[in-house]
Amino acid sequence: MKSILKSGQYRHTENMTSEEWVRVAAPATTSNIGPGFDTFGLAIQEPYDIVEGRKIPSGMVITEVTGPDAEDIPRDPEKNSVSIAAAEVLRRSGADFGLELKIHKGIRPCSGIGSSGASAAGGAYLAYLLSGKKLSLNEIVMCAAKAEGVTSGSVHADNVAPCIMGGFTIIRSYEPFEVIRIDPPADLGLVVALPDVMVPTIEARKVLPEEVPVKDLVFHVGHAATLVYAMTKDDLPLIGRSVADAVFEPARAHLVPHLKEAEVAAMSHGALVSFLGGSGPCVMAFYDKRTHKGEIIGSAVKQVYTDAGMKCDIWVTSCGPGCKEI
Ligand code: HSE
Repeated sequence: MKSILKSGQYRHTENMTSEEWVRVAAPATTSNIGPGFDTFGLAIQEPYDIVEGRKIPSGMVITEVTGPDAEDIPRDPEKNSVSIAAAEVLRRSGADFGLELKIHKGIRPCSGIGSSGASAAGGAYLAYLLSGKKLSLNEIVMCAAKAEGVTSGSVHADNVAPCIMGGFTIIRSYEPFEVIRIDPPADLGLVVALPDVMVPTIEARKVLPEEVPVKDLVFHVGHAATLVYAMTKDDLPLIGRSVADAVFEPARAHLVPHLKEAEVAAMSHGALVSFLGGSGPCVMAFYDKRTHKGEIIGSAVKQVYTDAGMKCDIWVTSCGPGCKEI
């Protein structure tokens, strides 16, 4: 069977190619969120990638990639998560056309805030729009997760699910696949601190234990359950007490310089809780927008890295709606 990702027979002629470009903003996401390894995810407002596409007669072609480390992002449609995800959506939708794609990365790779997930989700969502919204959002998430699996080495949907659906998402099960979305509290503020160090997810998964003790399982079940409860009840202090991780963050802490000091700085400047974003190196902090200023928390975390002679980007942001056409 011929792969839709092969761009061999693509011919760029005026009358075979749609002039209509569609643009999608695909936001950063934070995953795990304490106890929910590979299951919890949250869409955030910024930063975000932009994926543009238009119909061509057949195949996939990537004609532009811009943004941080753009030169490291594969142009080969069989290796790029945008085109892999888009091709899967077109295939499942029975589409009889291909796509020309342009990718503008706003999220640095190996950041821990779903850079590869945003690419995969943006590609899947773009193809969903261009093929007339024939699939469910659950199916779009699966297509994006498949692409995430090809490029990051593990099929995890905890970044692509919130990126596509927005809000707070829970993967109930991978086999069969089921994802639940809930609205997080409107007053939940988020500080994202990205120190200047790269942590590839594939490497951060190699340091994880293969088995967990029952006491840690009990700890995670309790915290995960109360975190979901707190999200639905707008109980911000309980969110703060529920975001904790006895297994995954401790195993990865050595990959992220000054993680503990950054978390302590965030907490001592008003954060409800501070934690490792996804597989790192991002350091996240939740705060109550009614009573605290995210800028103060962000400055305190940045200072930890400045004192250590490291650059650190800060975003003071909120929970977001996920992929949208712009
Ligand atoms: N849940 C995944 C992990 C997210 O922690 O490996 C990767 O960003």
